[in-house]
Amino acid sequence: MQITEARFIQSTPNPAKTPPPDKPEYAFIGRSNVGKSSLINALTHQSHLAKTSQTPGKTQLINHFLVNASWYLVDLPGYGYARVSKSDREKFEKMIRTYLEKRENLLCTFVLIDIRHEPQRLDLEFMEDLAERDIPFQMVFTKADKLTPNQALARVEAYRTVMLESWEELPPYFLTSAVSQQGREDILAAINAMNKLFVPQKNW
Ligand code: GTP
Ligand code: MG
Repeated sequence: MQITEARFIQSTPNPAKTPPPDKPEYAFIGRSNVGKSSLINALTHQSHLAKTSQTPGKTQLINHFLVNASWYLVDLPGYGYARVSKSDREKFEKMIRTYLEKRENLLCTFVLIDIRHEPQRLDLEFMEDLAERDIPFQMVFTKADKLTPNQALARVEAYRTVMLESWEELPPYFLTSAVSQQGREDILAAINAMNKLFVPQKNW
């Protein structure tokens, strides 16, 4: 899929104040600093569309970007950032939870995982929680440029092995790098296929 246009629409802390759910939508979620905002910029080929930072905790709102005037990408705050206060963390968690649960045009959530780390309990629990709530998701391993191709595949296998201890079937996954653009076409192809399945609901 060619990206002809991508633009910022709005930022809000309030899941009830998001744009009308009349277009297919895809959210990017994962630990702080995993590369959510960078991946959105890589997908849209716009280096400053979503704000990125070397410091975790940069994205703090629900950010909507409209692509090709026909579908939304959503940048969300990260979870699991220890250095925000407990009350702020709870606020972010509630905001993300409500958004994911209520957003009727959300076709798929991309759960980002830093390829460099061993399987993390927090990420595994987050995905289990999504599955329990019937929220469709796919896994995106980020920062593949930091490893050799063989090391990266070994990390993916390590993750899948741990997950298969409790999951019968695993969601699809992508191996990506915002630096080398690896995986970009694959994610855009998946989005293109899902866009075709979108049926707007009546309640907006
Ligand atoms: P929060 O908004 O704070 O939750 O973080 P985020 O998940 O949006 O991460 P962000 O995109 O801001 O990236 C965090 C850091 O990782 C930045 O320094 C990026 O340059 C770096 N980064 C992101 N993606 C990649 C990647 O694919 N490869 C490499 N080498 N670095 C990356
Ligand atoms: Mg961010």
